[in-house]
Amino acid sequence: MQPGGVPDPVGSPGPSGRGSYWITTFGCQMNKADSERMAGILEAMGYREAPAELEADLVLYNTCTIRDNAEQKVYSYLGRQAQRKRANPNLTLVVAGCVAQQEGEALLRRVPELDLVMGPQHANRLGTLLERVEQGQQVVATDEHHILEDITTARRDSRVCAWVNVIYGCNERCTYCVVPSVRGKEQSRLPQAIRLEMDGLAELGYREITLLGQNIDAYGRDLPGITPEGRRAHTLTDLLYHVHEVEGIERLRFATSHPRYFTERLIDACADLPKVCEHFHIPFQSGDDDVLRAMARGYTVDRYRRIIDRIRSRMPDAAISADVIVAFPGESDAQYRRTLALIEEIGFDQVNTAAYSPRPGTPAADWPEQLEESVKVERLQELNALVERVARLRSARYQDRLEQVLVEGGNPRDPEQVMGRTRTNRLTFFPARRPDGTAIVPGDLVEVRIDTVRSFSLSGSLV
Ligand code: SAH
Ligand code: SF4
Ligand code: F3S
Repeated sequence: MQPGGVPDPVGSPGPSGRGSYWITTFGCQMNKADSERMAGILEAMGYREAPAELEADLVLYNTCTIRDNAEQKVYSYLGRQAQRKRANPNLTLVVAGCVAQQEGEALLRRVPELDLVMGPQHANRLGTLLERVEQGQQVVATDEHHILEDITTARRDSRVCAWVNVIYGCNERCTYCVVPSVRGKEQSRLPQAIRLEMDGLAELGYREITLLGQNIDAYGRDLPGITPEGRRAHTLTDLLYHVHEVEGIERLRFATSHPRYFTERLIDACADLPKVCEHFHIPFQSGDDDVLRAMARGYTVDRYRRIIDRIRSRMPDAAISADVIVAFPGESDAQYRRTLALIEEIGFDQVNTAAYSPRPGTPAADWPEQLEESVKVERLQELNALVERVARLRSARYQDRLEQVLVEGGNPRDPEQVMGRTRTNRLTFFPARRPDGTAIVPGDLVEVRIDTVRSFSLSGSLV
């Protein structure tokens, strides 16, 4: 926008005439958060958002390689842009994120039209890297890098809910997972930096913050300091207490939790701190102890059960979600059935499901006992049907209940409605006007009477 609020024509060059950009983000919340920071950097450089991907002067794909199909998707997108670049040499093509880190130079050989290949640890350096591209270089930035605090303001998609990274990387060695090799070693941000970012978000009017880390329970273990009682000075629990004070922020969430490190102290803090929402995303991956051991997850099914019991004893209505993998190498039918049984037993509100996909450089990819594609498809289908059924049973408890909902925006399918989430993270739709006719706007916290329940969403009306 120009001063005075007159919008610029979309796609016109920015203040320094750098043209327009387009970012497509694949993968997890980490990538989404990185994309928002990279968009902020591009805008600070004078780029503005393009009206459409095929009109952009700079296209950035922030990529994911968690499973083979995620990786392949990027190559098909890139083929189209490479063709465009042959007709328009001024187009700047950037591949960021986890495929970039995994492939590095090899990506340039595969797609010579690329200008910049940059791993996730380099996201905050996008500006510097692009300056080298402008000088005519083809740049690959995938070396291990200490992540510096970003000084530009992220360009966030939501004006109500924001992500805040608290720890980058992952030091676990789950035998199926590429994340440690593409995201590098754990790097915690200092509590002061996190708090500062959250103060700024509160001032901008944000109401909900999700603290992010691939293994968020590891927060602080790379920071120095011991308390007088001999504990680590910096833990996720301490961080929650520290950021809970930020005025204006009404809700706090965090993800992803690892059952190996999830502590009773953390559960107690969540129960005691009113802003921390009653939703826990704790992947269990398999319901069988031998499979868990082969995955090197470092816990048993029983330990997982005890965590959930403890959460429910302190917060009886808490929503529990998880990730699970089926058809891991060597997984027998009986072992797979234990995963199904655990989903029924726990009663998950939501489960992200996947069939095992061998990933380059991970131990399990080389094991001989890989399962047939047909087994993967069959197990995944049966699993998804069960997840839906269990979620529907869990949703039933909301019928006729009064729920606090934080409004995030309009219902994309119905202009007369708005959408938001309950504290337990259920998507909820309801009419966009109060009974007195006043409009409901994003950021409002309202009480909704639930009248319709579905597996993964609710509808209701204002009281
Ligand atoms: N840090 C989180 C998850 C990160 S990856 C954790 O420890 O749980 C997100 C999810 O992708 C994982 O939970 C897992 O369920 C799935 N996933 C990871 N690698 C996979 C693979 N090789 N094949 C299939 N699913 C995989
Ligand atoms: Fe991957 Fe395991 Fe780290 Fe999660 S904890 S990101 S599954 S290695
Ligand atoms: Fe994908 Fe990288 Fe996230 S591989 S799931 S985008 S950490």
